[in-house]
Amino acid sequence: MPLRGEVQVSGAKNSALPLLFATLLADGISEIHNIPELRDINTAVKLLSELGAETAREADSVRVDARQIQSIEASYDLVKTMRASVLVLGPLLARCGHARVSLPGGCAIGARPINLHLKGLEALGATITLDHGYVEATVDTLRGAKIYFDIPTVGGTENLLMAASLAEGETVLENAAREPEIVQLAEALNSMGAEIEGAGTAIIRIRGVEKLQPLNVQVIPDRIEAGTFMIAAAITGGDVLVHGAVQKHQEALISKMIEAGVKIAPEADGLRVIGPEKLAPVDIRTSVFPGFPTDMQAQFMALMTRAAGTSRISETVFENRFMHVCELQRMGADIQIDGHSAIIRGTEHLTGAPVMATDLRASASLILAGLAAENTTEVSRIYHLDRGYEKIEKKLAALGARIWREQE
Ligand code: EPZ
Repeated sequence: MPLRGEVQVSGAKNSALPLLFATLLADGISEIHNIPELRDINTAVKLLSELGAETAREADSVRVDARQIQSIEASYDLVKTMRASVLVLGPLLARCGHARVSLPGGCAIGARPINLHLKGLEALGATITLDHGYVEATVDTLRGAKIYFDIPTVGGTENLLMAASLAEGETVLENAAREPEIVQLAEALNSMGAEIEGAGTAIIRIRGVEKLQPLNVQVIPDRIEAGTFMIAAAITGGDVLVHGAVQKHQEALISKMIEAGVKIAPEADGLRVIGPEKLAPVDIRTSVFPGFPTDMQAQFMALMTRAAGTSRISETVFENRFMHVCELQRMGADIQIDGHSAIIRGTEHLTGAPVMATDLRASASLILAGLAAENTTEVSRIYHLDRGYEKIEKKLAALGARIWREQE
């Protein structure tokens, strides 16, 4: 049934995580506001406490007192539940000259190595050894260097931004990631006293400084959560005002949704999305920002299962990010995988079914398909969903969706 009304986007998970770890760079008390209530945030706060920082959560803010760092180790248990824990490498090296972080290992959507993070830190003078599944990094003094990323890695850019901020001399990151979360991290580091320019472009220059002051920052809205609600409006033929959706963070998604026949109008603090009677098929190819975000691929595929025609979706960022396909097929979607592409023949009739979430964004795509399917869809293993979406069933129910959470 068509979703109608207004929804508020929460703070961006993928910005809050690096910002939380950036607090380790200053021996003081930092505050981060507009932090979403998510499992991954809880894991990051737990890791900060294990390193010796004092943490406190008040409403949508987290305070971090990083004056005492007592440990430099991120354990396998923590890193395996949240691979973004590897983002403590840069800050711990810069602050303590030593870090011991479990290799994250693979994850559902791909191998996700961190070789580019390690290569960059070695370029700054760190000695990196691997033993028993742990990365051991040590350095006397980090020294600026020119670093070229073979792939514009988001996490690699973030680790190097944080490490280079306290290195001696200038660092240049070439082929750096350009996501809005990178821009926020650079601005936050500059507010701490760092000297960074070029964030948001492929070349970022960092002039190292002696010391950084504590951080006080408001997390930007989550562009992937916003995009997910935009798709929810489109797939149900609804009319939803998404408060917090930022047009310049969503250009690729917006242009593809307009191509599919969706109306998207900028409003004071968000975007109004009106779904069409009939969706047109649209081909997409994921790529790094500002290209079409891989984190919106599964959600867009759900939309295309309802289009009047055939569309092709190519996933170029991760090697195994089509696990939602077989679950969508159980709901009657006609999708064929051909290597890194999926061919979707749209259908009027998706049918509800018991389906299983396999990863964070796949879970979102199953919910989106469920909103448009006939009768009831039951999504299991929704712990994946809770990693990246704050109260999604409440937010969707407020828009008229018939969705509820049952104890598993
Ligand atoms: C970040 O992951 C996001 N996570 C991911 O969001 C997002 O999908 C991804 O960026 C791409 O946009 C956070 O920000 C916490 P990458 P990250 O390093 O940093 C390869 C979600 O759903 N690579 O840009 O791990 C890697 O294997 C999550 O919220 C190397 O080969 O992504 C991948 O194929 C999922 N070597 C590609 O680059 C490296 O050293 C992009 O990875 C690093 C990366």
